[in-house]
Amino acid sequence: MLNYDNKIILAPMVRIGTLPTRILALRYGADIVYTEELIDWKFLRSKRRINDILKTVDFVDQTDGTIVFRTCHEEKDKVVLQLGTCDADRALKVAKLVENDVAGIDINMGCPKEFSIKGGMGVALLQNPEKAFKILETLVNNLTIPVTCKIRILDTPEDTLSLVQKLVSSGIKAIAIHGRTKDERPQHPVHPGTIKYIAERIPIPVIANGGSKEIEKFSDILKFKEMTGCSKKTACYLWIQLLKISSDFHTIWNLQDYCKEKQKMYQGLGIQGRWQVTPSVFYQIKL
Ligand SMILES: Cc1cc2nc3c(=O)[nH]c(=O)nc-3n(C[C@H](O)[C@H](O)[C@H](O)COP(=O)(O)O)c2cc1C
Repeated sequence: MLNYDNKIILAPMVRIGTLPTRILALRYGADIVYTEELIDWKFLRSKRRINDILKTVDFVDQTDGTIVFRTCHEEKDKVVLQLGTCDADRALKVAKLVENDVAGIDINMGCPKEFSIKGGMGVALLQNPEKAFKILETLVNNLTIPVTCKIRILDTPEDTLSLVQKLVSSGIKAIAIHGRTKDERPQHPVHPGTIKYIAERIPIPVIANGGSKEIEKFSDILKFKEMTGCSKKTACYLWIQLLKISSDFHTIWNLQDYCKEKQKMYQGLGIQGRWQVTPSVFYQIKL
């Protein structure tokens, strides 16, 4: 069972948090990796397929053959799937589809984009704590893997705490807190004091998030953890920072050599080009 105590976690990032980034992050020292946000109804259009060529599990959109979610054995015990949802039953349906392929499920309650808010997802859920609670409770009661959520802070630490306490009472295993309000943007400073206020008052790990511009080296993560009262709990960062940080310890990943090595390996298996691993061809091979 995934444990969130004192971990370094790759933050969820749309279009970036795909399998290659997650694997890279794990190899550079992340303990847990979050996927990009995946929208529930889109996920429900997909079918689970084993990809024998890439040795991955693919969830393939049945309407256009695109990969909605791809995962593999290396991340199985460390990957958390982040869902965009406004509906408990739909969220559960998706979670059941992936329950045996991922280590945890996270609900995105922090996205301030119009697309999310109009759909009742992201920060819209912070304005509707009953619905947010119901989604989490439904997942907690029906899944064998841990459930978390990611929120933004509210206007005051006290309001944030009372919302967090409500969400925590659903049985979630950790809560990620992005230290900005729904109206604040990356150019605005984060509020580590509010994260600290919450972390000191709740019984589950707080995943402190935000302010990655100030993270230049590994020790800056530790400083942020101290500032947010999460030094015995968790911290969560963007992959760019993770790559920067990793250069403190390791030699920079040599991508050219990696690509050449992989190309040689696949050619050895009789695979000559990318076209041989597209989903449509994969179906032809399987059927
Ligand atoms: C390109 C990009 C994509 C993001 N996608 C998501 C996402 O899918 N889900 C989510 O909860 N947050 C998403 N975020 C927000 C990050 O997870 C994180 O909360 C935020 O970047 C922290 O603030 P900082 O950039 O000041 O460190 C995204 C951020 C970026 C830069």
